[in-house]
Order: sequence, then structure tokens, then C-alpha cells
Amino acid sequence: MALYGAAAAVLSGLEAHQGSLKSLVYGSRFQNVRQLYALVCETQRYSAVLDAVIGSARLLEAEKKLKPHLAKVLVYELLLGRGLRGGGRWKPVLSRHKARLQAEFARLKVKRCVSRNEDLLESTPGAVQELQLPRFVRVNTLKTNLDDTIDYLKREGYSYQGRASGLDELRALEGKLFFLDSLLPELLVFSSGTDLHKHPLYQAGHLILQDKASCLPAMLLAPPPGSHVIDACAAPGNKTSHLAALLKNQGKIFAFDLDAGRLATMATLLTRAGVSCCEIANEDFLSVSPSDPRYCRVQYILLDPSCSGSGMASRQLEEPGAGTPSQERLHALAGFQRRALSHALSFPALQRVVYSTCSVCREENEDVVQDILEQDGGAFRLVHALPLWPQRGLGTFPGAEHCIRASPEATLTGGFFVAVLERADGQSSSPEPQLLAGKAVPSVAPKKKKRCRQNASTT
Ligand SMILES: C[S@@+](CC[C@H](N)C(=O)[O-])C[C@H]1O[C@@H](n2cnc3c(N)ncnc32)[C@H](O)[C@@H]1O
Repeated sequence: MALYGAAAAVLSGLEAHQGSLKSLVYGSRFQNVRQLYALVCETQRYSAVLDAVIGSARLLEAEKKLKPHLAKVLVYELLLGRGLRGGGRWKPVLSRHKARLQAEFARLKVKRCVSRNEDLLESTPGAVQELQLPRFVRVNTLKTNLDDTIDYLKREGYSYQGRASGLDELRALEGKLFFLDSLLPELLVFSSGTDLHKHPLYQAGHLILQDKASCLPAMLLAPPPGSHVIDACAAPGNKTSHLAALLKNQGKIFAFDLDAGRLATMATLLTRAGVSCCEIANEDFLSVSPSDPRYCRVQYILLDPSCSGSGMASRQLEEPGAGTPSQERLHALAGFQRRALSHALSFPALQRVVYSTCSVCREENEDVVQDILEQDGGAFRLVHALPLWPQRGLGTFPGAEHCIRASPEATLTGGFFVAVLERADGQSSSPEPQLLAGKAVPSVAPKKKKRCRQNASTT
């Protein structure tokens, strides 16, 4: 069980952007690193196939205590790996479902007209191909500043190239060259092979290894110092530490998360990053009362809920074939995402909310935002976020272009989605850098025809 549990924990960490595959594998307590690495890579490679089989066998519905990541690892071993060798209490459970899983696996092969397991990979719609993406590094202004960081890196032999003029320069990055990002302040860009996990500036919390797309939510929420902010689904806390940096540690962040283990990691990360304005609570955001006097000054909410992770760049997985979620999973996730966004909008002093996912599925993105805007009857509207950003929301409803999408192909980042909603009659109290947000525009759309698509294309 130790191997399977460790592999599931690494998959979960990848989905929550807790680190690269390598750092998570080495950070686990599992001794046989090679074995763990191989199992995670293979499970991830077949992620979309496994999701499809688990979904059609209704395994998670039948075994409510079985967590999706562990299910994926166990089903990989059962169907594609060496067979379940351990598995503890889950071994008999999986054995009960074995015939069904094998039948669904065989059915999938027939449906896709393939005979070999390997061929299922090529036939998987939406599989993200490996791209050499740059490494983005956020300078943590709670501990240092851009100039000092650049000087330090230059002294180490890195060669600073100034602010990048566009994506082409970033595509061409190699060796020890590095840029300042063309759009985001305090974001450094290194060549794809750069690994700073052991770098003293990272270890000291001066640098945060964070994908460019994942820097957008806090940046676009832009809470001014002194304000009160809720980070609704906060762990492991990269965006929380970014919010704290924008607040200059002045004001308050109420950070919630359901997962106690992830919150423990988050506490370590925030301490290392020098965050002192954050209250962490192991609480369901949906049960946080908007009428609680503690939150009466909350004007800003960052909502980055659990999602399918279908946009995670294969770079993060260090293997091609990021997952394609089953329709059941998408449906369940989108239900939670709607409830969470609707709940966020019910905080009385709220001025702005940023909704983000690392999913490329419209069901979790544009559809959620559209439904909530319609349901809320015009009290909130979409802001045209970051006008210079090249990739916009899918045109599924009028106004969807105010949202932002990101992808390896168009923005050299993981797949991501961000929407900024602002109270329609409100006065924004934060000075918005021109680059970051444009004019708020009314955007309530006519009710769309509902369709549930697997793995909507993003570009
Ligand atoms: C995508 S991750 C958040 C990543 C985080 N914002 C960051 O930047 O590091 C989603 C998180 O939502 C948490 N979560 C799921 N349901 C929740 C709920 N009802 N209330 C609070 N947190 C929840 C999960 O435990 C998970 O840690």
C-alpha cells in the first residue's frame, strides 16, 4: 500500500501545483524513488484512459471512500501494470470490481478501434503533447525585491536579458539566460531545463516557483494593502502567498481549505515566504457564513476550487498525456464550482471575485461563470481582464471573451482559466494597473443550450 498511497499523494500534489514531479517524488517518504517515479509517470501517461474506464465502471460512485488519485493508481496497476501486489484493504475492493473494469477497458479499445494498450494513448482526444515550456519564477516581495534578486542571479552566472518583448523570445530561451516577463511584474522566466528547487533563494522563500498562469488570479484580484481577503480554497497556498505580497502583509487573508494535510504544507510554505497576515482554517468554504462579523470587511475573494486539472501542462507531469476527465467527474466538479462561486458572491461587502481553474473544460469554466452571472441577476459583471493577454474565454456566451484562458500553445503556460467578476454598482477600491484589468462590462447572456462535452478544446 505504501507505494500506491505515495503515488496517489504525488498525483494529488501535481494537481494542486505543490511542486514538480521530481520534487514531489523525492519529497515523499517512499524509499524506492525509481519505482515510485515510474508508477506515477505511467499512471499519468494513461490518465485519460484510466479516467474513462473508472468513470464508465462507476467505481468511485460504488466505493465512496476511494479517492480519485488512489483509484487511478490502483486501476493502472490492475489493468496496465504488474497487477495489484499490495493494496491493503483496497485490494479485495478492487478485486470485486476487476471484471467490470476489465470489461470497460476492453469496450474502450473496441470503441477506439485499437488492439494495443499503447494505441489508446494516441487515440485519446485532447492529450497534451510535451512542449518545452519556460520555467516561471515569482520574486517574493515580502522577502526581497526584483533588483536584488537579479543581481544575485547574475553573480551566479545567469545572464539577465531585460524585459521580454513577447512570447517568441521566451520560446527561444536556453542555458542560463533569463528574462523579466513581458506582462507580469516580478515574474522571471528561465529556460525549460532550469531547476531551482535546491537554489538557496528558493529555499529561503525569496523565490516562488509558480507557473505564469497561476500568478494571474492574485494579480487580477489586486487587493490593496490593508484590505480583507478570502482565499476560499487555498492550499497549498502559492496564490495565498502572492496575495500577501500584494497586501504587503497589511490587512488580512482568511484562507480556507478542506484538506488538513495540504493545509499543513501550506503553513510551512507561508512561513517560509514570510506571510504574517493570513489566518488559516481547516473549513469547508461553503459553510463559512457570509453574515459572520469577522468577514464584514471582506471585499475580495479568490476562488480557485478543486477542478479536473485537465489543463496541467505535460511539462508539470514530465510525461505526455494529461488527463481527460470523465463526464461524471466533470459534472460533479462543476456542481461544486457553481455552489462555491455563488457562495462567494453572497458576502455582503464583496467588490471583486476572481474565479480560476487549471482546467481546459468549458463545463468548469465559461459554463460556470455564465450560469452564476445569470443566476445573480446583474449584481456582478465580468471585467475585461488583462486586455493584452492573447488567449480569451471560449465564445460560448456574449462576454466570455472578458475571461482569460491560457495554454502551452498560446501562452507557454499550463492550461488555465480566469474570470474576474466585480460588483456592478461598486466602486473598485484598488488601483488597477492598466495592464491587468480593463473596463468592467455588463455581460449577462441569454441562457445557453446545455451540452456536456468531454475535454473541450481551448484554442
Ligand atoms: C486547486 S487547489 C487550490 C490551489 C491553491 N489555490 C494554490 O494556489 O495553491 C483546490 C483546493 O480546494 C480545496 N477544497 C475543495 N473543496 C473545498 C471546500 N468545500 N472548501 C474549502 N476548500 C476546498 C482542496 O482541498 C484543494 O486544496
